[in-house]
Amino acid sequence: MGLRIGDIAPNFSAATTKGDINFHDWAKGSWVFFFSHPADFTPVCTTEMGRTSQLAKEFAKRNVKPLGLSTDTVEEHKKWIGDINETQHTDLQFPIVADPDLKIATLYEMIHPGESETQAVRSVFIIDPNHKIRLTMTYPMSVGRNFDEILRVIDSLQTGDANRIATPADWRPGQDVIIPPSISNDEAKKLFPQGWEELKPYLRVTKLK
Ligand code: BEZ
Repeated sequence: MGLRIGDIAPNFSAATTKGDINFHDWAKGSWVFFFSHPADFTPVCTTEMGRTSQLAKEFAKRNVKPLGLSTDTVEEHKKWIGDINETQHTDLQFPIVADPDLKIATLYEMIHPGESETQAVRSVFIIDPNHKIRLTMTYPMSVGRNFDEILRVIDSLQTGDANRIATPADWRPGQDVIIPPSISNDEAKKLFPQGWEELKPYLRVTKLK
């Protein structure tokens, strides 16, 4: 059975480019963007690592720590970071987990044997400060991820947690949000005194103050 939304992200100890970590201790109090790559010194991965580094301020603003992983060693990761910085014009500072024996990739089911027996696919786990998995996404090896979507999902989850709302398709911060069906109209009156538009009894749209 795979790791699912709502599960506690399994803890692990690992060597990273920033030293040894105990995952839960390292993550304490933060959101985590944990993402895997097939291998060091590969082209798509190089752009994704670069993009994550370029977005460092965006992640920090949202209290999110990025954590990369590929099934190579710390020494290889460190050499590769030089290439990433050079080609993607950045200064990569977040840790990358070394996982040459596939221990963590196996724990997080990042190895999909139909794709590769030895390299991780492009998995994403968004994990909240309670270590709960809030989103999983899996991309094939040939497709670089969309980082606007990763930030958008984090914005949606954090806005939802703070306001007990859900967000519609293609939502962007500042746009109207949805009052979930689990909230009665009586409760909604207290939570959303600004009112809402009821398109259907199950589809109530409001603006956040
Ligand atoms: C890449 O990151 O460029 C890549 C890695 C494995 C297979 C295909 C592409």
